[in-house]
Amino acid sequence: MRILITGGAGFIGSHIAAAYVRDGHEVAVLDNFRTGSKRNLPAAATLFAGDISQAGDVELAFRQFQPEVVSHHAAQLDVRHSLEDPAHDAATNVLGGLNVLLQAARCGAQRFIFASSGGAIYGNTGRMPADEATPVQPLSPYGLTKWTFESYLHIWRQVHGITPVILRYANVYGPRQSAEGEAGVIAIFSRRLLRGCPCVIYGDGSSTRDYVYVGDVVRANQLALTLADGGTFNVGTGRETSIRTVFDTVRDTVDRLLGRGEERPRLPEHAPARAGEVYRSALDNRRAGEILGWSPQTSFEAGVAQTVEWLQRSA
Ligand SMILES: NC(=O)c1ccc[n+]([C@@H]2O[C@H](COP(=O)([O-])OP(=O)(O)OC[C@H]3O[C@@H](n4cnc5c(N)ncnc54)[C@H](O)[C@@H]3O)[C@@H](O)[C@H]2O)c1
Repeated sequence: MRILITGGAGFIGSHIAAAYVRDGHEVAVLDNFRTGSKRNLPAAATLFAGDISQAGDVELAFRQFQPEVVSHHAAQLDVRHSLEDPAHDAATNVLGGLNVLLQAARCGAQRFIFASSGGAIYGNTGRMPADEATPVQPLSPYGLTKWTFESYLHIWRQVHGITPVILRYANVYGPRQSAEGEAGVIAIFSRRLLRGCPCVIYGDGSSTRDYVYVGDVVRANQLALTLADGGTFNVGTGRETSIRTVFDTVRDTVDRLLGRGEERPRLPEHAPARAGEVYRSALDNRRAGEILGWSPQTSFEAGVAQTVEWLQRSA
């Protein structure tokens, strides 16, 4: 298949690009390198350097590559930035997404895979883990743009017959995730503990997230190509892991790798909880199991070890 991946130079998109190339697909990437890197790209992928919020950039990539499948991963995904500059967030995630969707329909792409966010759209729900029928309640403009774009996809299915596969990711982690920025707490703690620096937990450490390993997310994207019909699927483990457990697991992993160093912090530092953040989050993955044939295969400990080892190698 000819597959165009927007955001394919980023953390998740580049792992998907590599897997699709390995599976024998023809892959192209459209990316403006805002957070992604050329180093992440598989050699066999065709690169279109461009911005999804520029209609001309998107049109050029689609005209030249004529994809049968679009995997839409390019996004502004910094939650705090989305609160500070919601117009820029929407310009990328809604208007940029629409440029991609319009071109997908124009060139006759049959399938549109969209990287949505379970954590960001369900908000503080009473349902734990949250299934796909949970009423959405985004707490940030970022979550709102993900939900909005999902709704456009449902309209495009009705009007243009394009098949959407909406993957609502939990908190994805693994090699290549940025240790800068505000997201990616596993990468951030790993980098800091490898350097012997303190780690800050906002709140008392009992707040939870559902951490899913990037290799498992890639497999969901491989299965999304084979699904006869479209659909919406949570891609998470269904398990809540507290931020304090994240710290302890990363610390123990770094200890195993480097030996227990006394200069390395044994305990996290604490700062006041940040407003607007979800307290608990976990995604019910039974639908993905039943229809996509997907379930997570990587234990939290194994995934953290992969991440820490990668960060140490790339330091
Ligand atoms: N990382 C997570 O935990 C997580 C969770 C839920 C959903 N998602 C979604 O998965 C997707 C990929 O996230 P990631 O973690 O790999 O982030 P990332 O920042 O590593 O990847 C995003 C990619 O999109 C590119 N990009 C950004 N703006 C662009 C633009 N205007 N035009 C073209 N390219 C642009 C970046 O350069 C980067 O390569 C995003 O849509 C994100 O919202 C991620």
